[in-house]
Amino acid sequence: MTSRSEPLDRYAVFGHPIGHSRSPRIHALFARQTGQALVYTAEDVAPDAFEGAVRRFFREGGKGLNCTVPLKELAFRLADRVSPRAARCKAVNTLALQGDGRLLGDNTDGVGLVRDLTCNLGLVLAGRRILVLGAGGAARGILAPLLEQRPARLVIANRTPSKARQLAAEFAELGPVSGGGLGELGTERFDLILNATAASLSGQLPALPKDLLVAGGTCYDLAYGSEPTPFLRWGWAAGAALSADGLGMLVEQAAEAFQLWRGVRPETGPVIRALQAELHGPDGLAPKP
Ligand code: ATR
Repeated sequence: MTSRSEPLDRYAVFGHPIGHSRSPRIHALFARQTGQALVYTAEDVAPDAFEGAVRRFFREGGKGLNCTVPLKELAFRLADRVSPRAARCKAVNTLALQGDGRLLGDNTDGVGLVRDLTCNLGLVLAGRRILVLGAGGAARGILAPLLEQRPARLVIANRTPSKARQLAAEFAELGPVSGGGLGELGTERFDLILNATAASLSGQLPALPKDLLVAGGTCYDLAYGSEPTPFLRWGWAAGAALSADGLGMLVEQAAEAFQLWRGVRPETGPVIRALQAELHGPDGLAPKP
């Protein structure tokens, strides 16, 4: 129990922009559920102010930070030591102050996605054909945990083909991954298509051929919002049995961070449902046209 005179443990998410962040709400729900006393805030921190803001935060008693776009690569460079999964994707979304005063960097994005796909949505990824759209930081963060699930094949398709090829080469030792341009798609169908491009953030859709998804396949957008993204709409039109946004991934990556910081694993189901209700109304369902 924290006494009245002791300040509460402080956590925060840094990003730029940060206005839309649901992380303070998620961590407040986790804290209430697990009986942990803490404060979690969101701060808009531009890349050139990042290092100073991180140093100040921890100097003033902060215990842990989440870092989001566009700060994850900077957080990786700033961490004193990093987890193997952060080292693999060269990006950090969670910083934890350790007993010796050093900063541990971890990356919980990929495991958060895989937990949402397998535990919450009930998908089996082993033996499946997976398509990842995009070859930026978001794609990089999910490749290793996806390949760990032993898909039959993982294809990365990007607007700029060379970036997809380069990323595939970097992860080739982990499994059957290849990369190319969006324009090279169309001859193969996939069981699961993941949108890891930044297109949804500006209401756009990557240029996709029809007949990319197997009948009854799954579409998943790493982005989320109160309205379905253009990619989720594309999925429904393409015959997806399930077209899901990234809210579950957001809550799952937050749960991993919470566990690292507090040593307690929150239950994510009730928190996902609470956020869905806040975003989409009491029935928690995204409107389907
Ligand atoms: P993030 O860290 O969110 O992944 P990023 O590193 O800037 O951000 O990468 C953005 C990704 O979205 C890239 O793969 C980008 O394609 P390019 O490499 O060709 O730039 C992709 N992207 C952004 N807008 C897109 C659009 N309208 N259509 C298709 N791909 C898009």
